[in-house]
Amino acid sequence: MDWPALREAVAGCRLCGLCESRRNTVFGVGDEAASWMVVGEAPGADEDRLGEPFVGRAGQLLDAMLAAVGRSRRQGVFIANVLKCRPPDNRNPSPEEIERCSPYLRRQVELVAPELILVVGKIAAQALLDTEASIASLRGQVHRYRAGGAEIPVVVTYHPAYLLRTPLDKGKAWADLRLAARISASARR
Ligand code: URA
Repeated sequence: MDWPALREAVAGCRLCGLCESRRNTVFGVGDEAASWMVVGEAPGADEDRLGEPFVGRAGQLLDAMLAAVGRSRRQGVFIANVLKCRPPDNRNPSPEEIERCSPYLRRQVELVAPELILVVGKIAAQALLDTEASIASLRGQVHRYRAGGAEIPVVVTYHPAYLLRTPLDKGKAWADLRLAARISASARR
């Protein structure tokens, strides 16, 4: 599928029950030729209303985190979620929802072909890396995501919504962003 076909497939998706309660699908936003992809968990209420990922308070913090490494959702980054539809009451995605939705994310990664994927939060990290490991054990190292014959480096960090509740961990997130910047710079050499 190319970008238009993928956008159309997501917009009309009925592969799981979330299609019954969503207001909008949330495909993703940003630079289709980005060198970074940011992957979050699932749309919340604001994202469901507006059809764009990370537009609430957590999104403002994510934008600030990206700005700290010279990037933005308009330049150098494509932002997507594991799930394209909002789980009611912001409950965690079910394993079945993740399984049904993950081919869309995989195709997005193939089409963007980024130098680096930054995964925010435990749920997204566990889904993307197919693991049950804790975020504490996943951060601070470089993982790999296989897409389209390539092995893309993955760095895991805290979800911005968690950082809003736990500002003391912002220093660790900053270290993760610096690791991500180092990895993508070395991919260019
Ligand atoms: N949290 C996410 O993981 N994704 C969004 O798009 C918004 C909040």
